Amino acid sequence: MATDHAATTPDTQDGSAAKQPAQIAREVARRRTFGIISHPDAGKTTLTEKLLLFSGAIQLAGTVKARKSGRHATSDWMEIEKQRGISVASSVMQFEFRDHVINLLDTPGHQDFSEDTYRVLTAVDSALMVIDAAKGVEEQTIKLLDVCRMRSTPIVTFMNKLDRETRDPLELLDEVESVLEIECAPVTWPIGMGKSFRGVYHLLNDEVMLFRAGEERADGAFEIVKGIDNPKLMEMFPLEMEQLKMEVELVHGASHPFDLQRFLDGIQTPVFFGSAINNFGVREILSSLVDWAPPPRERDATVRKVEPVEPRFSGFVFKIQANMDPAHRDRIAFLRVCSGRFEKGMKVKHLRLSREVKLSQVVTFMASSREQVEEAYAGDIIGLPNHGNMQIGDSFSEGEMLSFTGIPYFAPELFRVVRIRNPLKTKQLQKGLQQLGEEGAVQVFKPVLGSDLILGAVGVLQFEVVASRLLNEYGVDAMFEGASISSARWVSSDDKKALSDFEQALAPNVAYDAAGNLAYLATSSVNLRLTEERWPKLKFHATREHA
Ligand code: G4P
Repeated sequence: MATDHAATTPDTQDGSAAKQPAQIAREVARRRTFGIISHPDAGKTTLTEKLLLFSGAIQLAGTVKARKSGRHATSDWMEIEKQRGISVASSVMQFEFRDHVINLLDTPGHQDFSEDTYRVLTAVDSALMVIDAAKGVEEQTIKLLDVCRMRSTPIVTFMNKLDRETRDPLELLDEVESVLEIECAPVTWPIGMGKSFRGVYHLLNDEVMLFRAGEERADGAFEIVKGIDNPKLMEMFPLEMEQLKMEVELVHGASHPFDLQRFLDGIQTPVFFGSAINNFGVREILSSLVDWAPPPRERDATVRKVEPVEPRFSGFVFKIQANMDPAHRDRIAFLRVCSGRFEKGMKVKHLRLSREVKLSQVVTFMASSREQVEEAYAGDIIGLPNHGNMQIGDSFSEGEMLSFTGIPYFAPELFRVVRIRNPLKTKQLQKGLQQLGEEGAVQVFKPVLGSDLILGAVGVLQFEVVASRLLNEYGVDAMFEGASISSARWVSSDDKKALSDFEQALAPNVAYDAAGNLAYLATSSVNLRLTEERWPKLKFHATREHA
């Protein structure tokens, strides 16, 4: 094994050694890896499609949309397979824009919402927050933003659907600031809305981009008029311009000027207004990601921080997806490259198993189709086919023992008690749940009292997928019943006695997860709060690190 590994290293030891770091640095600098955070129906799919149209990655409008509508089909096994197959292909979309390589990671919403949606955000370097300007900040956006906050991920905001009647823009900014606790720096400002939406004023460039509805412009070319005082604008729409001037004065006085460092620190979000469906304001978003969002940055690992420009390859698995074909049972592990250069066929160390693996059948996601990848750099995502030997959080390197951190499990919000129709299948059930738990498909809790197994998820589809996979892959016909649990928290303490007292006193609601961690299953938010107050020596965690 060790010799095999040595065989992969001469590349970096021969004459190319001096050239490589510069090439890696260049490739890293032109990468942008981001995800979209939004509430269902805010316009994520529409915007994704326009972003792809822009880059020339897809020619046909409606491609992404068609996939999405496929998702709403009934969820018998084949349908789930189909829809998961589809989302494997659209899980990562890589495209080029202005000589940059953009990796757009899908954050599944609607029924697909799951723990993966959260975890994808641990693999991005920035996020695009899409808000329906008629609705303002909605529930799912709040949750997703909380996840971004864990790593102070920089966020660009797009206020969508200005071609409709929306809420007052100033009020929207106010809401983002107070609910999401992030400073807003408007970069563009809308001129009118709905039927009288005229365009946006770019506050930094002092120019107006005129809105034209309806046409699908792949190039996103809209007429630009320089200067807010340009008489042409007053002639075209005097009423809206008066209003704009008043608002701009207010905005300059009351809101924050854009500050790149504050954006990079995750304290401030630049805000753009537009209409995804009309491809209006989309180019500005993409440009802001290229110009302002960070390229891959250093990542924390157990022994040290890892710089993306380091010559040696490293990365971690943040998502595992069962493959389309149930006959094959293979899965794709999504790995984010953190440093060095990945080359097809290279051998790397699977650190948890302390085993060398050859990465030859690797897929990438160029233009939303699955292609064989030849090389990849920090920020890129590669798909590794595997047969169940990879878990969420697994790290890979060219030999060094480092384990990436910050790829957590998130406390589930939905719970079910598992029942099986055939008690003779108990062993298979346990094995299946153990593996599905390791894959991150669902979380499994075993209460201290009783013989029930409790499943925890953040999206209902997770339960459906687990039921189908238990049946198809493990031959277990399981039923899920409602559980009177509203949330879970992992519990830790330096005080061992306090922990065991807790376990005894609250046994019916204390459980161990698949990795053997102690958790409290609260019956309501009030119950959780009271328990936290009553046990001050214990810490209650909403996330836990990969074991
Ligand atoms: P999602 O992925 O975030 O769930 O949202 P999606 O893009 O599917 O958009 C949700 C709905 O909002 C869609 O309408 C879409 O056409 C519409 N939409 C997106 N951007 C804009 C916009 O800029 N202006 C307006 N007026 N509508 C927008 P739908 O009726 O649900 O679907 P469809 O019948 O249009 O396909």
